[in-house]
Amino acid sequence: MLPRMATPSRVFLVTGGAGFIGSHVVERVLALGDAAVVVDNFSTGRRENLAHLAGHDRFRLVEANVVDGLWAAVKPAVEHLGPATHLVHLAAQTSVVSSVQNPVDDVRINYGATVHALEYARHNGVQKVVFASSAATYGDETEMPIAEARASAPVSPYGINKLGSELFLHYYRQVHGLPTTALRFFNVYGPRQDPRSPYSGVISVFVDRAVRGLPLTIFGDGTQTRDFVFVEDVVRAILAACEQSGAPGPYNVGTGRPTSITDLAKAIVAATGSASPIQHAPSRAGEIVHSYANVDAARMALGFRAEVALEEGLARTQSSLAPDPSPATSAAS
Ligand SMILES: NC(=O)c1ccc[n+]([C@@H]2O[C@H](COP(=O)([O-])OP(=O)(O)OC[C@H]3O[C@@H](n4cnc5c(N)ncnc54)[C@H](O)[C@@H]3O)[C@@H](O)[C@H]2O)c1
Repeated sequence: MLPRMATPSRVFLVTGGAGFIGSHVVERVLALGDAAVVVDNFSTGRRENLAHLAGHDRFRLVEANVVDGLWAAVKPAVEHLGPATHLVHLAAQTSVVSSVQNPVDDVRINYGATVHALEYARHNGVQKVVFASSAATYGDETEMPIAEARASAPVSPYGINKLGSELFLHYYRQVHGLPTTALRFFNVYGPRQDPRSPYSGVISVFVDRAVRGLPLTIFGDGTQTRDFVFVEDVVRAILAACEQSGAPGPYNVGTGRPTSITDLAKAIVAATGSASPIQHAPSRAGEIVHSYANVDAARMALGFRAEVALEEGLARTQSSLAPDPSPATSAAS
């Protein structure tokens, strides 16, 4: 066993920390002078996302499946850095389409792993658990902007398991006194979002294609809207929730502003200086037409407000992408 280091005041256990959002959380935690233990099975996360942190004395990377529980996996890391004070549970199967195809797997990962994370927190004195929930919990809600008080009726196993996880947070808070916050992320974008995934966010796909001069394909007429929130804003919401012992949520994490897919495509073409044409394909069955957040609750409870404008976020996403000669296989909206 390595000698234990001088204990940092806060130790963050970040499940899914090798993923898109998780790697940004870890960077911020370390920049604040705290310690981070990442637990990731690299199902969609990548070692490269954390490669620049290798050797950092307040950082440990543990390859493990959260579904197998956290005790044994994180033991050496917390013995070295000190007990976990905060748990940010981001590990998930993130594809709605996969959840429809494999609902049993989705329950195991997106519901079961949450209970494993909460059990670890309950028995190990964790001061706060923050959970990555999703706007998918709202299902086909049509009244915009969507507020948290709206009855949730998810229309996918992914949304159901995120909502079920929120109920487990409520249970652990009420019955075991474990402080928890659920954050419902809207459409998160930014550097390190993987554009090669067929289920990836539309921004990473469009930026990747624009940089390579390939057509941007909009499904339907492009009037559908989304609430695109930059990953650094999402990290700020997560860390704001970590500061509070109360504030259970759920809270929407978005900008509160709708952007149409057509406006998004035009903004990306402009931001990248690309000659990519914008083309249309038939709308996809079941696609939600409008989705954007009412963000009042997060502002009041967490003091959170998204700060990064779309143009700035796009520029920062684009500059993180090196052009890649291989053809992209899909575009999504
Ligand atoms: N990106 C978005 O727009 C968005 C929107 C709503 C909610 N969310 C939620 O935010 C969280 C992070 O999403 P992301 O966009 O960074 O996706 P991501 O795929 O980049 O990150 C998920 C991470 O979890 C890891 N993981 C998956 N299953 C695991 C398991 N069983 N054990 C250990 N690690 C496991 C993956 O390897 C990956 O590193 C997820 O819970 C996701 O559902 C994301």
